[in-house]
Amino acid sequence: MIPLLLIFASFLRPGSAADPLACSPRACGNLSIAYPFWLHEDGQPPCGSPSFQLNCNGSQALLSRSMFGAYQVLQVFPKNSSFIAVDNNLPLDNGCPKWWFNISLGVGLSPFVISSKNRELLVLDNCSKQETPPGFNRTSCANESFYRLGGEYGSHRKLAGLPPACRLSVVPVLGVPDGDSYVSSMRQGFLLEWTVPSDVCPKCEASGGQCRYANDGTGFSCSCDDGLRPDKCGESRK
Ligand SMILES: *[C@@H]1O[C@H](CO)[C@@H](O)[C@H](O)[C@H]1NC(C)=O
Ligand SMILES: *[C@@H]1O[C@H](CO)[C@@H](O)[C@H](O)[C@H]1NC(C)=O
Ligand SMILES: *[C@@H]1O[C@H](CO)[C@@H](O)[C@H](O)[C@H]1NC(C)=O
Ligand SMILES: *[C@@H]1O[C@H](CO)[C@@H](O)[C@H](O)[C@H]1NC(C)=O
Ligand SMILES: *[C@@H]1O[C@H](CO)[C@@H](O)[C@H](O)[C@H]1NC(C)=O
Ligand SMILES: *[C@@H]1O[C@H](CO)[C@@H](O)[C@H](O)[C@H]1NC(C)=O
Ligand SMILES: *[C@@H]1O[C@H](CO)[C@@H](O)[C@H](O)[C@H]1NC(C)=O
Repeated sequence: MIPLLLIFASFLRPGSAADPLACSPRACGNLSIAYPFWLHEDGQPPCGSPSFQLNCNGSQALLSRSMFGAYQVLQVFPKNSSFIAVDNNLPLDNGCPKWWFNISLGVGLSPFVISSKNRELLVLDNCSKQETPPGFNRTSCANESFYRLGGEYGSHRKLAGLPPACRLSVVPVLGVPDGDSYVSSMRQGFLLEWTVPSDVCPKCEASGGQCRYANDGTGFSCSCDDGLRPDKCGESRK
């Protein structure tokens, strides 16, 4: 019984709560930022997990802990724990980087994984042979490189017959409409998923509440008409 009392005491402790609106949903450009994402604001204490911290740069919501802080979040699907991001480190203007790289190396951030719902854009460069590898198209870049759309993201590992004379880089893309270029497919972004720690948020929403981090920026609380609750609305205050 005593630990339980302590937990409630910490929820209700006056003064421990920052401005209750400080961590409310925010907008950045077209994106409405809500749990589990949160917007970093100068001079404000953190509102949640560092992995989900966003900085608003003009109208771009950028994932703070991504490679060079340059992953722009375009759309979030809280229902199935996934979101679309664009990697602004990629050559989104002309498709010709100084060097190609595997995008997955830049995401080394749990709790996110690149969804297998993406397809892969395969890029070959630094080839030691002159001819265009079969099935690939030449880019218009000064440094010779070739591209083609592959299968489900991750499937290149099972592909036989990629030219060993070239260096392979893999970029997740949501797909390329017919006749579209690989550059626009990179601009459309790719799907990432996060692992859900528990089903506590759906329960809160089902009870009419909104999911929030607890006042100290960690853990969970459910924001109800009559205040914050540990799990869901309608729980009686002890
Ligand atoms: C916001 O959405 C509109 C309409 O979908 C789009 O034209 C515009 O480019 C978007 N702005 C940003 C900053 O993403
Ligand atoms: C933020 O926006 C400015 C101006 O558009 C740009 O120069 C800067 O690189 C952006 N920062 C990031 C991290 O993308
Ligand atoms: C989540 O739902 C959105 C919208 O229906 C969909 O586009 C996306 O592919 C889904 N994500 C996953 C991981 O299935
Ligand atoms: C071509 O690649 C080299 C490194 O391999 C790089 O230094 C150079 O800037 C690249 N040239 C262009 C035009 O991107
Ligand atoms: C490019 O290929 C040459 C040999 O063909 C190799 O020595 C060099 O390390 C490669 N460069 C990169 C960046 O992979
Ligand atoms: C490659 O080039 C051919 C011929 O120009 C074109 O039909 C095809 O759509 C291109 N493939 C890709 C993936 O762009
Ligand atoms: C990208 O990853 C593949 C394996 O998934 C590997 O064969 C390739 O060398 C990597 N390319 C670079 C540029 O790191």
